[in-house]
Amino acid sequence: MNQSILNLIYLVGSLSFMIGLKMLSKPESARKGNLVAAFGMTIAIFGTIFLYDGIKTSNYIWIFGALIIGTIIGTLMAKKVKMTGMPQMVSFFNGMGGACAAIISLVEYNHMGETTDIFNFSEGFGDTPVAVINGLKVKLGIIYLGLIIGSISFAGSMIAFGKLDEKIKDKTLPLQKVINIGMLLVILGIGAAASLGNIQWPNIIYVVLTLSLLYGVLFVMPIGGADMPVVISLLNSFTGVAAAMGGFLYDNKVMLFGGILVGSAGTLLTVVMCKAMNRSLLNVLIGNFGGGAATGEAKSMTGTIKEITKADAAVLMKYSKKVVIVPGYGLAVAQAQHICHELEEVLEAEGVEVKYAIHPVAGRMPGHMNVLLAESNVSYDKLLEMDDINPEFKTTDVVLIVGANDVVNPAAKNDPASPIYGMPILDVEDAAHTIVLKRSMKAGYAGIENELFYSPKNSMLFGDAKKTLTDLVSELKSL
Ligand code: TAP
Repeated sequence: MNQSILNLIYLVGSLSFMIGLKMLSKPESARKGNLVAAFGMTIAIFGTIFLYDGIKTSNYIWIFGALIIGTIIGTLMAKKVKMTGMPQMVSFFNGMGGACAAIISLVEYNHMGETTDIFNFSEGFGDTPVAVINGLKVKLGIIYLGLIIGSISFAGSMIAFGKLDEKIKDKTLPLQKVINIGMLLVILGIGAAASLGNIQWPNIIYVVLTLSLLYGVLFVMPIGGADMPVVISLLNSFTGVAAAMGGFLYDNKVMLFGGILVGSAGTLLTVVMCKAMNRSLLNVLIGNFGGGAATGEAKSMTGTIKEITKADAAVLMKYSKKVVIVPGYGLAVAQAQHICHELEEVLEAEGVEVKYAIHPVAGRMPGHMNVLLAESNVSYDKLLEMDDINPEFKTTDVVLIVGANDVVNPAAKNDPASPIYGMPILDVEDAAHTIVLKRSMKAGYAGIENELFYSPKNSMLFGDAKKTLTDLVSELKSL
């Protein structure tokens, strides 16, 4: 009876994940989608705790102790985090998922050791039927895969967390590519040999664990500034796959289903991101990314920059036919999305056509700009993806670039030595005028100078995005 109710709960849980994920694909339904998926997860967790036959009631103290501690820490972190710190937190939480999957593998490995003689290969399997032995080998294979993928995801996500938080700098070892490929092959080779029973030392799993953790660090360490988004979505898909391995081990359908959803969504996002950044997936996997395209020192900038006053910028925009706003990370830092929407409304009231150009990696997480602008009720049909807006820049009078930098840097097209070379960018230089609104001449995430700032068609409008946009709105209203 309990098992039937549990199966029903797992079915509802799986459906909730699916519906929740679907709802996440649109900003207007995303919040509800998150709640729907969280509901599915909650019933799956409590259903398992109370209805699964294998759980001893004497373990409730541990289970609820861990649940309470985890809930308190998670809630505090989520409440405390600033919008700009979200990517780090997502990376951290993703790492925790990877760590869980790795721990499940370790625990199950030890359980296997207690209940079967699979680790005594030297003494043979006695009269154990071949089918049983093969079943055990498959189980061992899944344990190893869960361990490898989970620990790479954990270690990689922790490094990504440190990098996004600007605590860890990119570091490339000599022969990094060879070391990474070699290590990956060794880890997979040992895992396969141990699963097939060709390595009979029970502690070999700890060697695989250590090497996988090291690989996770080495593969994320060298990844250059602008390429981090791809790595983050790849690590996310790793955690999903590792969780699916746990689902296999426990024959738990909802865990398997959830893991597959995360794994496939993460993989699709990785492929989309790779395309957006014009990078190859193989290069991401061996941690030789972005930098691989660079052939030397990036160009140093010469020339003069031109500043514009807020009053002049307001006049220029007011008498334009078409203005395109390019939002970037600085918009999120300044929390300037609401005033940006107001600027759009004021311009439209003057008869100016206003659109937003959304680069796939603008900000610090996938969909960052869409979420931010949706929060301030910008209409979705005004948000244009890079491929759709690029041809429109030729007919645009003014492009207002608010706290964006790397995503409009022409070095991605013109400078083969640049670490962002090859990444598609927003073709803002095609417009009649560009205005870059930022606080200083400092570089963006990729840490490189931007030749757009020196273009004769460009003017710099220095200041905090929120304050400057507020002043621009006042100027426009007073004209
Ligand atoms: P960035 O190139 O990082 O540039 C943001 C600019 O905003 C900075 O140059 C900064 O200049 C300015 N800024 C910061 N605070 C500001 C404020 N309060 N007011 C006005 N300006 C402010 O941003 P982007 O163009 O959005 O590009 C995103 C970068 O992040 C890419 O390199 C991308 O690969 C990387 N990345 C993206 C993701 C995802 S998934 N989207 C994840 C990780 C990394 P000042 O300091 O001079 O103001």
